[in-house]
Amino acid sequence: MAASVLALFLSVFLALACSTAADFYRDAAITWGEGRGKILEGGRGLSLSLDQTSGSGFQSKNEFMFGRFDMQLKLVPGNSAGTVTTFYLSSQGPGHDEIDFEFLGNSSGNPYTVHTNVYSKGKGDKEQQFRLWFDPTASFHTYSIVWSPNKIIFLVDNSPIRVFNNHGSSGVAFPTNQPMRVYCSLWNADDWATQGGRVKTDWAHAPFTAYYKNFNIGSCAPGTPCATQELDAKARNRLRWVQQKHMVYNYCADSNRFPQGSSLECKRSRF
Ligand SMILES: *[C@@H]1O[C@H](CO)[C@@H](O)[C@H](O)[C@H]1NC(C)=O
Repeated sequence: MAASVLALFLSVFLALACSTAADFYRDAAITWGEGRGKILEGGRGLSLSLDQTSGSGFQSKNEFMFGRFDMQLKLVPGNSAGTVTTFYLSSQGPGHDEIDFEFLGNSSGNPYTVHTNVYSKGKGDKEQQFRLWFDPTASFHTYSIVWSPNKIIFLVDNSPIRVFNNHGSSGVAFPTNQPMRVYCSLWNADDWATQGGRVKTDWAHAPFTAYYKNFNIGSCAPGTPCATQELDAKARNRLRWVQQKHMVYNYCADSNRFPQGSSLECKRSRF
């Protein structure tokens, strides 16, 4: 009895202790953009900018096998058409795994598109896109990726917007054996990003700047509470609300692209 209470206490304690506020100086490396990426507020914040010559980006120094990754972002304001701001996880090499948040800019007054995707063993094609229910350029909001052995959860301000389950060997490949790094970038994608590439980047507004802060990394390895976490009723309701009211594209419903029918994880998708 005492031993199991102690074990419970220890596992909760370890889970808490494993969630750490990252310091951009210590935990991240600005990998491209020649001075367009800047660490701010003593390591708590970071800005990326984009001009006609280059975008910029950073990555985590460490690799992770599962985890909960929280990042606060304030996106490029005003006319952000053609720009893409990213926060994603990726492994390296062929047959890579990747879990993406991409924010596609828009012309002034038009909404950003939040693009999500999951690659397993090099295969993506699992896009879901959303509109936000707030202005993501007015203040910081928290975007999270929870990657556990059982599921991937995308969250915005702690509301789940998408769940991608691991259906095991009967299902679609799920990232379980390649460690991933965190990557963030701001770049020009005006050949496709805004309204299908019709709206180009207006360089008169450059440089464009996006802000990141309060990067937090928590463990979601097997044996941690995170790894077995299920959405409660409130979270499931919130997910349903986002998917019904704010989803603008779902690969599961795109029969033009997938005439042979949607893939297994769509049919068996359960919260
Ligand atoms: C930009 O705004 C237009 C008009 O509201 C919308 O159709 C489009 O999906 C938005 N997002 C992007 C990335 O083009």
